[in-house]
Amino acid sequence: MKDKVIVITGASVGIGATLAREVTKRGAKGVVIAARREAELAALAKELGPTALAVVCDVTKRADLDHLRDRALERFGQIDVLVNNAGRGITRMVSELTDEDIDSMVSINIKSVVYGIQAVLPHMKERERGQIITISSGLARFPLAATRSIYAASKAAVNLLMGTLRMELRAAYPDIHCTTVMPGVVATDFGNNALHGGYDSRQLPGAQPVEEVGVVIADAIDKPVAETFTRPQMLELQKAYYSSDDVTKMESAPPFFASPAATR
Ligand SMILES: NC(=O)c1ccc[n+]([C@@H]2O[C@H](COP(=O)([O-])OP(=O)(O)OC[C@H]3O[C@@H](n4cnc5c(N)ncnc54)[C@H](OP(=O)(O)O)[C@@H]3O)[C@@H](O)[C@H]2O)c1
Repeated sequence: MKDKVIVITGASVGIGATLAREVTKRGAKGVVIAARREAELAALAKELGPTALAVVCDVTKRADLDHLRDRALERFGQIDVLVNNAGRGITRMVSELTDEDIDSMVSINIKSVVYGIQAVLPHMKERERGQIITISSGLARFPLAATRSIYAASKAAVNLLMGTLRMELRAAYPDIHCTTVMPGVVATDFGNNALHGGYDSRQLPGAQPVEEVGVVIADAIDKPVAETFTRPQMLELQKAYYSSDDVTKMESAPPFFASPAATR
């Protein structure tokens, strides 16, 4: 950690801000925090101290990701880790989705990840090392909540982007690591910030403390892995789901959640 410069998108609040605190505590050489809200970023940068750099960045814009890379290199001369963390949920079932809903989820959750990867990859290839971490979701693996529809689908797409990137790089660049992190429900403003509003993640039963998620991601920087859930129960659920001979049985019982509004 001590030699590493870590760039984190979506770092004004929530998981990204918590991770920035965790890697700073572990002695990272530099942490570049990026998001749209300038005041929140400035306050966090002040709290983190001289190793932090705040950069305003909208991840739906490719030029902003290129600018973020340039600012990080200008200040620190290197980028060791990019954490594609910025993202947004949605509270709408498949039957209700509009074109705008779909475009928004694709833009914030998928295009942003490709923009981030493409911004830093030439630098990492030149150094023949680095790590790209993408914060996906357990929802990428199962249809856990009917209302998350296109959000879950966008995160499933991101898992495959990361897997295929890992395969692309493996032979020529074995020291560029690609890590997909899949949290469950985390106690942040994610639910409140979802497109069309929604449930407050903090009030959902068993919401994981955000600090625990920060520790799991920082551990994946200290010791890179290809994929990790932030809770072992999710891995158990995945095993059960994919070995089930009838997934509809699993989907009809908790923790799978069909919104009451989904019934006729
Ligand atoms: N919390 C959960 O239950 C949960 C579960 C699974 C996965 N995740 C994933 O974890 C990641 C972080 O979520 P969170 O829980 O920390 O949510 P959050 O509290 O809502 O924070 C989201 C962060 O993303 C940033 N962001 C949103 N749109 C952006 C844009 N267009 N450009 C740049 N930054 C943008 C926000 O900053 P600004 O508004 O300042 O731009 C904020 O810093 C997301 O990818 C989410 O999908 C969360």
